[in-house]
Amino acid sequence: MIPRDGAGDRAAWVRHAAETLSAAGFEDARADAELLWCRASGEGRAMLALRHGEAAPIAALARFQAWLVRFTAGEPLAYLEGSTGFHGLEFLCDARALIPRADSEAVVELALSLMHPQRPARIADLGTGSGCLLLTLLHLRAAWRGIGVDRSLPALDLARSNALRLALEVRSSFAQADWLDGVPGPFELIVSNPPYVVPGEELGRGVAEHEPHAALFTPARDSMHAYRRILSAARTALAPGGILVFEIGAGRASELATLADALEWEECGRRRDLSGIERALAFRTRGSALP
Ligand SMILES: C[S@@+](CC[C@H](N)C(=O)[O-])C[C@H]1O[C@@H](n2cnc3c(N)ncnc32)[C@H](O)[C@@H]1O
Repeated sequence: MIPRDGAGDRAAWVRHAAETLSAAGFEDARADAELLWCRASGEGRAMLALRHGEAAPIAALARFQAWLVRFTAGEPLAYLEGSTGFHGLEFLCDARALIPRADSEAVVELALSLMHPQRPARIADLGTGSGCLLLTLLHLRAAWRGIGVDRSLPALDLARSNALRLALEVRSSFAQADWLDGVPGPFELIVSNPPYVVPGEELGRGVAEHEPHAALFTPARDSMHAYRRILSAARTALAPGGILVFEIGAGRASELATLADALEWEECGRRRDLSGIERALAFRTRGSALP
C-alpha cells in the first residue's frame, strides 16, 4: 500500500491515489486524489507543490489511506468527512440520510421568494432527511417555526442533531410519519424533496450503494407516487393561501405540473437549479391568494 518513492511524501501518495482511482474507473482521478488529500489532511492544494518531498503528518496520512479505500469503493466524500455545506450552512451527514445536494437549494430559494419575509409562518418539511430544507429556511427566517417529518427514525435523529448544531432546536420539531398522516397543521408552507428515482434509473457513482434507498427510490415504478400522495393530503394541511414547494427530478417538471393540475392545484412558481434544470415547483390550491 505504501508508495515506493517515499513513504510519507504527500506528492507520492497523491500520485498513488490518482493511479488507484484511475484503475477503478474514476474519470478525474488526479483531481479527485488531490481533493481527497486536501480534505483528509486539512492542507491546501498549494502545499502539494510547496512541501514536495517532505514527509506528511502521520495522522493525515493514516486518514488519507483509510479514506482512499472507502472513496475508491464509491463512498461519497461527504460521508467520509461527516458533514457537507448546504446554502451556506454546514450539515452533519452520514448514511442515515441523503446527502444535501446543491440542486435542492432551488427549493429554498423558491419558497423564500413566495413567502412574506417577516410574517410568522408554520412550515412542514416532508421527508426531511438531514433536515437541510427545514433548518435552512428557519435559519433564514427568524419568525418561522417548523416540523421535519420522515418515516425513517435514523434520519430524524440526524436532523435533530443538525437542529441542535445550528441552534434551531427551539423553533423546530421532528416527527415520524408517513408524509402528512397524523401531522398537526395547518401550515403556511410545506416543502418536500420526496424520493423520485424510479428503480433501474441511472445514478451517480456510489449513490445507490451508499445512500439510503428509502430516500432515493419511489416504491413503485412510478416517479410521481410520493407527489400524488402529498398533493392529495396537503390540501387540508395548508392554511388558507398556503404554498407547497416540491423538488423534482430532471425532466419531470411538466409531469408534476400536469398531475398537480389534475388534482386542482395551481402552479405559482418554478425555479431552475445551478445546472439550469427545472428543479423546484410551487403550487397553491386553485383560486387561493399568495400569503
Ligand atoms: C430525497 S430524500 C430528501 C432528504 C432531504 N429533505 C433533502 O432534501 O436532502 C427523501 C426523504 O423522504 C423520506 N421518506 C420516504 N418515504 C417517506 C414517507 N412515506 N413518509 C415520510 N418520509 C418519507 C426518506 O426517508 C428521505 O429521508
